[in-house]
Amino acid sequence: MVSAPRCRPGARGLLALLLLLPLPGARSGCGAPPTLIFADLLDEFKTWTYFPIGSTVSYNCHPGYQKVPGVQSTLFCKTHLVWSEPKEFCQKKSCGHPGDLANGKIHITDLLFGSNITFSCDEGFRLVGHDTSQCVTEGTSVTWNHEIPFCEAGCQKPEVQTGSMVNALDEKMWYRVNETLPFKCCPGYQFSSHSQLPATDRFSITCLADGSWTALPLCKKQSTSDECEMASAKELKVCGVPLETLRTLLEVQKLYLEIKKLKLELKSQ
Ligand SMILES: *[C@@H]1O[C@H](CO)[C@@H](O)[C@H](O)[C@H]1NC(C)=O
Ligand SMILES: *[C@@H]1O[C@H](CO)[C@@H](O)[C@H](O)[C@H]1NC(C)=O
Repeated sequence: MVSAPRCRPGARGLLALLLLLPLPGARSGCGAPPTLIFADLLDEFKTWTYFPIGSTVSYNCHPGYQKVPGVQSTLFCKTHLVWSEPKEFCQKKSCGHPGDLANGKIHITDLLFGSNITFSCDEGFRLVGHDTSQCVTEGTSVTWNHEIPFCEAGCQKPEVQTGSMVNALDEKMWYRVNETLPFKCCPGYQFSSHSQLPATDRFSITCLADGSWTALPLCKKQSTSDECEMASAKELKVCGVPLETLRTLLEVQKLYLEIKKLKLELKSQ
């Protein structure tokens, strides 16, 4: 209750008095402060139930975000019982440029919290490590969650054209520099540039630092030998003979055997 004025106020004075006094039952403060994007109300204000005119509340940015320079991170309860205009005052932090990738490329859309950068290696190089890194929080800061990978020189599995070559059991797709890959020729074939070697001898190629192989071997038919038909079906298959040809070959072989048998039968009659 307001103590009664000593003298009777004029109509204007009464109006001023009424404006200053809270109306019975009316709110005399602002409602709960608004929820702001990427920001949390400071804990100390969360317990407040009453926000009188002129009171001020502060916010903290979410992890990975920082206050936009020059933007007030507080709101105040205005005289007409609304909060001052909420502004977006938190922005993503940046992890910064991660550096360079030797013999490869870093693909960047942006460097901000939550974004991913990807890595790829130039041709002839293999990526060792993670091919993606994400800007994540680390304590109160942000950082890339994976280190820059390494692009290692090496060779891809060589394309061997000739069907008369048996690749060694090695079925890798990638070979390190200085790694060797052994070959041998199909039965009845031998390495053309190594005619002094027996046909079964192995010939190895080596992966060079520029991602290429030393000269690929070439298998040539031995003049003294029969065709690949002497080889077993399994060997023919790895020799790269198409399945159709193989079937025909086997049928021819069967026919030949049957004819031989018939001839023998005719002789014995
Ligand atoms: C970044 O990659 C992670 C998985 O590695 C994925 O969950 C996330 O959504 C990606 N972020 C963006 C912005 O693409
Ligand atoms: C490959 O071998 C050469 C010669 O022995 C050597 O100088 C080089 O360092 C080796 N490279 C790798 C990647 O091991």
